[in-house]
Amino acid sequence: MTDRLILRRPDDWHVHFRDGAMLRAVLPFTARQFGRAIVMPNLRPPVVTSADAVAYRERILAALPSGLSFTPLMTAYLTDTTDAADIVAGHRDGVLTAVKLYPAHATTNSAHGVTDLGKVAGVLDAMAEAGMPLLIHGEVTDAEVDVFDREAVFLDRVLAPLLERHPGLKVVLEHATTKEAVDFVRAHAATGRVGATITAHHLLINRTHLFQGGIRPHLYCLPIAKREHHRQALLEAATSGEGPFFLGTDTAPHTVASKECACGCAGIFTAPTALELYAEAFEAMGRLDALEAFASLNGPRFYGLPVADDVVALERRTEVVPDVVLLPEGDGVLPFRSGEPLGWCFAGAA
Ligand code: DOR
Ligand code: ZN
Repeated sequence: MTDRLILRRPDDWHVHFRDGAMLRAVLPFTARQFGRAIVMPNLRPPVVTSADAVAYRERILAALPSGLSFTPLMTAYLTDTTDAADIVAGHRDGVLTAVKLYPAHATTNSAHGVTDLGKVAGVLDAMAEAGMPLLIHGEVTDAEVDVFDREAVFLDRVLAPLLERHPGLKVVLEHATTKEAVDFVRAHAATGRVGATITAHHLLINRTHLFQGGIRPHLYCLPIAKREHHRQALLEAATSGEGPFFLGTDTAPHTVASKECACGCAGIFTAPTALELYAEAFEAMGRLDALEAFASLNGPRFYGLPVADDVVALERRTEVVPDVVLLPEGDGVLPFRSGEPLGWCFAGAA
């Protein structure tokens, strides 16, 4: 039995750092484990221009504890009025790695999202030309569609036509949660245009966990966890080693008060033990050998970035997930599985 795992330093292709005190509280967890992270732009107000991204990147770098070498990869939030020239210039200048599409009102801070993809066709063409990926929150917002079906409906109704309308565009289906998504990504694998991130929590929980013994607000995220057979499809995809599937935690911190209330926020905070959680899921599949491809190789290849040249270690030893991470103004953020033991422990550079 393997007791120590060495892998190239992984990257997290989907994180929420927020801003201010929350940024300072959560950033060290991600920066400790990962070399780079794709930073989501859904701040209030959102990061929409190259200049916004430069300013946000500076705030992130200022919040980074000394001694950690970590590169935030910035994204811009696509709106109905996004300026294609600004986005492409941001990409050319190394400020923007990608653009994020939130259908309007799909999730947390998405009120500024795109209301009609026809309005952003020019931006998408310019991105395709520049080789800049579009990162997609893939859920329809139609109130008539059941919340558990919103991803599958999005694939047919929105994503397939979008790929046809913009034949050069690369897309990442963020936080895939369904077997339909896995099948969709595989059906497009030969094109090299479609990737998908998979979170640790969607590998570890299904929708029944949300109601185990009572309602569990800290397990509520969007897209919401689905039935067990979808979780099995995600596990199979993540551990397959196939190039289009890569690590994106979607670690999404919210204060305890904003989770434990009558209308709680969506988001699960996994950053403190992200790699350990993935290791648990991979080990359950007997595929620890496939963790490096998923965590450290497939993402950079999809994005056309170099693979890390340093390595990190995970060790088999019991680690208890930290208690609430306190914020200076009071309240705090509760890590996923807080207080519970994990069988793997991140051991830093190897
Ligand atoms: O659960 C989620 N939380 N899903 C999202 O899409 C957004 C995120 C957040 O920003 O909290
Ligand atoms: Zn997210």
